[in-house]
Parts: sequence; structure tokens; C-alpha cells
Amino acid sequence: MELKRIDDEGLGHLVEAFYARVRADEELGPIFNDAISDWPEHLGKLTDFWSSVMLTTGRYKGQPVPAHMKHRSKITPELFERWLGLWAETTDALMEPAAARALQDKARRIAQSLQLAMFFRIDA
Ligand code: HEM
Repeated sequence: MELKRIDDEGLGHLVEAFYARVRADEELGPIFNDAISDWPEHLGKLTDFWSSVMLTTGRYKGQPVPAHMKHRSKITPELFERWLGLWAETTDALMEPAAARALQDKARRIAQSLQLAMFFRIDA
């Protein structure tokens, strides 16, 4: 299959394939399957998120930190590594190499800042 670029079509395809893997993963799957009832809506939101991040389209208007905070009791740094591992596998399989690398770098940076917000918050 032809490798994809970072455009609407490529990002939509990537998001769909990634969350199919996440849902099938024995550790990550239950967290997502419990939290998300409307999968088409979630996939649309995540495609907008990646479009905003990689193409600066401004389509995503949400707040990732509180969305993850809600699930903090179930999410660990190890799970973030697992998420990033699946992201690396999926982007390597589907995207052109430079696109895959850029998506992996960006995800790693976002995962770090999410973890700082989630696990290292100092309550004054
Ligand atoms: C939303 C889990 C890592 C981006 C969500 C939701 C869950 C979740 C359960 C739905 C929240 C809800 O509405 O109840 C996880 C887990 C992760 C992880 C278990 C790793 C262990 C990441 C990373 C990114 C990301 C690394 C970005 C690179 C998002 C975005 C949303 C979301 C943009 C939508 C937030 C909104 O509602 O606006 N995630 N996530 N997640 N996640 Fe993650």
C-alpha cells in the first residue's frame, strides 16, 4: 500500500488505524473502550487534533490535559511508553519515513508535557 503524507487524507487514515490497534491492545484497549462511547466522534476529534498540530489548521479546540486527568488513576508512565510504541509502529507502517519521524517526535513531546501535567503537578 502506498505510504501516506501529512494531509487530511493521510492523517485520517493514520488516526483510524492507530485507534484500531489501541482498542485491540490488552492494556490500553480497556481504558479507551470504557471512556469513549462515540468512536466516530473521537476519531474526528483526533484527526482535527493532528491536523492542528502538524498543519496548524486550528481545527482542534479541546483541552487534552483535563481530558486525560479524568483517567489519571488508570494511566501510568509505562502506558505512555506503550502508547508511543504503538504510535511508532503505526506511523512507520503507514506514513512516508520523514512524516513518520515528524509524527513520532511530536507525539513524544506532547506525551512528555501531558505527563508533566498529570503526574508532577504541585498543588499549592
Ligand atoms: C483523549 C487516553 C496519550 C491525545 C483521550 C481519552 C482517553 C485517552 C481515555 C478520552 C478522554 C475522555 O473524553 O474521557 C490516553 C492514554 C494515553 C494517551 C491511556 C497514554 C497512555 C495521548 C497522547 C496524545 C493524546 C500521547 C497526543 C499526542 C488525546 C487527545 C484527546 C485524547 C487530543 C481528546 C481530548 C479532548 O476531548 O479534547 N485520551 N491518551 N493522548 N487524547 Fe489521549
